[in-house]
Amino acid sequence: MKTTDVLIIGSGIAGASAALKLARNPQRRIILITRDPDPHESNSRYAQGGIIGRGLDDSADLLVADILAAGAGASLPRAARILAEEGPELLQEVLVGTAGIVFDREKGGDIDYGQEGAHSRRRILHVGDGTGRAIMQGLIAALQKCPNVELLTGATAVDLITYPHHSRDPLAAYKPITCHGAYVFDRKGKAIHRTLAAVTILASGGIGRIYRNTTNPAGARGDGLAMASRAGARIVNAEYVQFHPTALSVPGAEGFLISEALRGEGGVLLTPEGQPFMERYSPEWKDLAPRDVVARAIHTEMEAHDYSYVLLDIATRLPAAEIKRRFPNIHSECKRVGIDITREPIPVVPAAHYFCGGVAVDEWGRSSIANLYAVGEVSCTGLHGANRLASTSLLEGLVWGNRAAGDIEGRITNLPSVIPTREDIPAWDESNLTQESDPALIQGDMQTIQNIMWHYVGLVRSGDRLSRAIRELRHLQNEIETFYRKTKLSDGLIGLRNAVEVGLVVGQAARHNRQSRGCHYRVDSVDGGDRLL
Ligand code: SIN
Repeated sequence: MKTTDVLIIGSGIAGASAALKLARNPQRRIILITRDPDPHESNSRYAQGGIIGRGLDDSADLLVADILAAGAGASLPRAARILAEEGPELLQEVLVGTAGIVFDREKGGDIDYGQEGAHSRRRILHVGDGTGRAIMQGLIAALQKCPNVELLTGATAVDLITYPHHSRDPLAAYKPITCHGAYVFDRKGKAIHRTLAAVTILASGGIGRIYRNTTNPAGARGDGLAMASRAGARIVNAEYVQFHPTALSVPGAEGFLISEALRGEGGVLLTPEGQPFMERYSPEWKDLAPRDVVARAIHTEMEAHDYSYVLLDIATRLPAAEIKRRFPNIHSECKRVGIDITREPIPVVPAAHYFCGGVAVDEWGRSSIANLYAVGEVSCTGLHGANRLASTSLLEGLVWGNRAAGDIEGRITNLPSVIPTREDIPAWDESNLTQESDPALIQGDMQTIQNIMWHYVGLVRSGDRLSRAIRELRHLQNEIETFYRKTKLSDGLIGLRNAVEVGLVVGQAARHNRQSRGCHYRVDSVDGGDRLL
């Protein structure tokens, strides 16, 4: 058993920046866990386009207006205001100052601001097309210098430890739900430890991997959301799953993100016959329309004409040398699978990309469970509304990671006294777990979940499809739960149990909300919603 002041679950930009701020107090003990053996691994690492700064002719008001417009009328204006006012300064302080990130500059030395969909100004700071990777390298290097941060890799959280659920106190049921840490599976030692904490921060990222096609890495299977759901936390906006319009559609590299920044630099979507089509769907924004609009336009084209992909042309829009300079990773990954983006268009399809809903939090990252914070993609601050504006996610993680850390610093002065004792919290009971984990079952069930989500809870939804998804997921959940109760834990089994829980959370929210808005599009919408195709 371990005890700490703050347990952070997830090492992406939100968790890492919360840890960095908390670590400034040398008395504070912080444990940061991540399921991957590599601490740099997270969804943040795969961000290509960049992070929002303040462009040359830009202002907080303009950014707020763009966030609210992209969010299709469902964003929380206060959250947008916080991001727009605090984000650019924090970016300088934490990313440039502490983590030493060097963002790209033009030849003359000025910042090279990029452009993405639905932004009225060029305001995206980037490091080539590998911004997330550069940021994660800087943040983890900074964290590794903090003696009061214990960074545990290969450590998968299994469940939050919550009072009253895990307490032996007979009066517990009459008291509010409080979080006291998590049960953590140590993948190397194959043991489950109680990690007791005065405060827990969920920073475990998104859910893309519960879909068949996704731009997200293996860990994005909704672990944090599922744990919060089982613990009884309030979850909101779960129907708003954002699909990125352009994931590579070439065998061997499926799901590889082709950044929106390509369209920001003039890239154009074409049918396989070479015809541009976005003007028909968004005469004003064309290829730089909000993501939900572009993704649905591609889906509609594919369905209407039985295409298995559409094309994205940058080769005829930008000189080859400029393409290689600006998009080195995309250029080399496409080259690896036989596409030279300086000479030919790129086959692309939409793929699940970002979860706009999540654990409901306030402006300090506080969830509905006492002592439980949520930051980054697992949380819902209300910022993204029904559709996230490009390149807001890294900034949101940075801003709310800092805010949560600031709130924890301000509120809790005598942290160890709130930590329950070993006697209060039962150890993980493995006595009934006799069966070895069967990888074929885990993989098969996971693929079933991914197919259900893709076909019935995907880009285009209906009451019938959603009801079918819920019935099938419920049946699968019963099977998985029976299996889980008898089987020795593994990271795959933990992920499978979480994926089916999250599938149900998303499916139920989508069935409940009969109004199309942003990335939740129903063919049987009650009022036609907004900006439908
Ligand atoms: C992209 O580069 O297209 C993704 C950026 C984002 O998801 O904000």
